[in-house]
Amino acid sequence: MKRVITFGTFDVFHIGHVNMLLRAAELGDHLTVGVSSDELNFSKKQRYPVYRQEHRMGIVQSLACVDNVFVEESLELKGEYIKQYEADVLVMGDDWAGKFDYWGDLCEVVYLPRTAEVSTTDIIQSIREDLG
Ligand code: CTP
Repeated sequence: MKRVITFGTFDVFHIGHVNMLLRAAELGDHLTVGVSSDELNFSKKQRYPVYRQEHRMGIVQSLACVDNVFVEESLELKGEYIKQYEADVLVMGDDWAGKFDYWGDLCEVVYLPRTAEVSTTDIIQSIREDLG
């Protein structure tokens, strides 16, 4: 059994998230997704996600390609999560290219290309402009 793990916020769920999760799942037999907590997002971006963490987790868990979800509480715990979920492959979007090579001694590290021209930040911005 080849186990894959990936991480993300998955706020205002969109096609880029779907594509990433489908392709991550294809790299193994079992996909675990670490969904970053509301507090972790606040500490990174000084704003809370639009969808709270239980809802973001529920959306990700509902996908047929996802086997398991958990809350990612801290960026510093990546290694612990990789071990805990017995991941053979860590998958990240190529916006993170090179940044996770450090974990290469624990598992294979794969960067997948992002879907062009869609991001949560842009969607929030365009809603703001349309309604503002
Ligand atoms: N992702 C992707 N293609 C996109 C957007 C996201 O492949 N167009 C991937 C990211 O690389 C990551 C996962 O989806 O592996 C979760 O991304 P996340 O950061 O939650 O979404 P973004 O839309 O990038 O959010 P933001 O704009 O807030 O950074």
